Amino acid sequence: MNLTVIGTGYVGLVTGACFAEMGRTVTCVDVDAGKIEGLKAGVLPIYEPGLEEIVLRNSAEDRLHFTTELPEAMQDSKVYFIAVGTPPGEDGSADLQYVLAVARQIGRHLDGYSVIVDKSTVPVGTADKVRAAVQAELDVRGVKIPFDVVSNPEFLKEGAAVADFMRPDRIIVGCESERAREIMKKLYAPFNRNRERVIYMGVKEAEMTKYAANALLATKISFMNEIANLCDLLGVDVESVREGIGSDSRIGSHFIYPGCGYGGSCFPKDVQALIRTAHARGYATPVLDAVEARNAAQKQVLFQKLSRRFGSDLRGHTFAVWGLAFKPGTDDLREAPARVLIEALLNAGASVRAYDPVAMDAARKEWPAAWFEAGRLSLAAHQYEALEGADALVLVTEWKPFRHPDFAAMKRLLKAPIILDGRNQYDPEELQPLGFEYEGIGRGL
Ligand code: NAD
Ligand code: UGA
Repeated sequence: MNLTVIGTGYVGLVTGACFAEMGRTVTCVDVDAGKIEGLKAGVLPIYEPGLEEIVLRNSAEDRLHFTTELPEAMQDSKVYFIAVGTPPGEDGSADLQYVLAVARQIGRHLDGYSVIVDKSTVPVGTADKVRAAVQAELDVRGVKIPFDVVSNPEFLKEGAAVADFMRPDRIIVGCESERAREIMKKLYAPFNRNRERVIYMGVKEAEMTKYAANALLATKISFMNEIANLCDLLGVDVESVREGIGSDSRIGSHFIYPGCGYGGSCFPKDVQALIRTAHARGYATPVLDAVEARNAAQKQVLFQKLSRRFGSDLRGHTFAVWGLAFKPGTDDLREAPARVLIEALLNAGASVRAYDPVAMDAARKEWPAAWFEAGRLSLAAHQYEALEGADALVLVTEWKPFRHPDFAAMKRLLKAPIILDGRNQYDPEELQPLGFEYEGIGRGL
């Protein structure tokens, strides 16, 4: 059973590579010719730990192929994974144009029973739209070909995508047909060792499960950020509180780390899309609205703390920023808290010297050349170089090399030994005797 994966971004490339790693022959398709040429030459378009190794190995062993031509990729396969983007439209609802364009293209070339798998994050009812789009093309061709549409949302996290795909907590398969269910069962059997991980349900339930999961995780983070801000006002250290509540198995220790807001391509867009889905049915979403509002405010917290410390006019000040990506382990800058901070600092007249272990190339392409040319924003060659002569260090992304730095060297390099820790990585009790002025998120200092 060969597979076709359409869309070769974070989800598509990881899906294709991991199925190939389990012995399947997979063809990955993308409309971006540059991406496909790069992949054919062994150059990956994204940074994701462990991905390069399995892409290169499976390509060399002839199990993983790349093409821009969907009809060619469809020839030897009867299972098509749709993994294209579903970005926010103008009103925040999920834009399905890429998903439906793929569905129409599949309909134009379908030549026997096939399973079409929605892997992209799509609103409830999308499988019906995909089915209708495929059927419309079959009708134009005047042919009768049976096919099933399955919802199989993806739960991988960037920075841990390969590990998450290979050892998932669960695999959601929304499926109305026994024939398609058997095919999905076989496909996922290698990922099921030790315990059954596949949960079967209806297609709409699977579509909703994806949004509910992301929205709940985002809710936990926004809730914890609100508690952290309150801890600041009350002189309470939120890190003890986090440990204290996380040990309750009903609450759990994951996704309750306070910080400078959640970013990435998914939580912001999926919370927004779920809100739009509800509003379209006249249903209000005060909880989700608050999750979004808290996150938008939280992304301002680092700047507010700096303004309180240095004043609102930051001309003549330089700040070192450690971490640009929206989380460690990725070069993805989409919706990253660092973007909000850097823009606010530059607007207030400050200069910024930033360093990220992986996202420097992405940053160079992302921000206006004028900022770099004017010397307002510069990218340091090393994490310590970013500190030279800076008024303070702001830690935004908790990459591993930032966790146990050489504080003595930092003190020598910084103009003043001030650390603003947006991810609560450091121990105030360790820093105080070293002469650092330290502030975190909700540390009550
Ligand atoms: P991405 O933007 O990284 O990749 C999408 C790819 O699809 C691009 O390479 C684009 O060129 C390609 N594409 C667009 N139209 C195409 C077409 N007609 N034919 C072939 N290729 C086409 O997106 P992503 O981050 O991989 O996300 C894909 C979907 O998966 C989204 O719905 C997202 O919400 C969901 N998702 C993402 C993650 C994540 O961590 N990034 C995790 C789970 C789910
Ligand atoms: C998230 C989900 O975790 C995945 O399960 C899901 O598949 C994916 O979205 C998606 O649908 O695309 P991702 O955005 O890659 O994955 O990364 P996360 O680890 O969830 O982090 C998201 C943001 O939340 C980051 O900015 C991170 O710093 C922040 N975060 C996370 C916190 O502020 N506190 C936490 O406790 C956890």
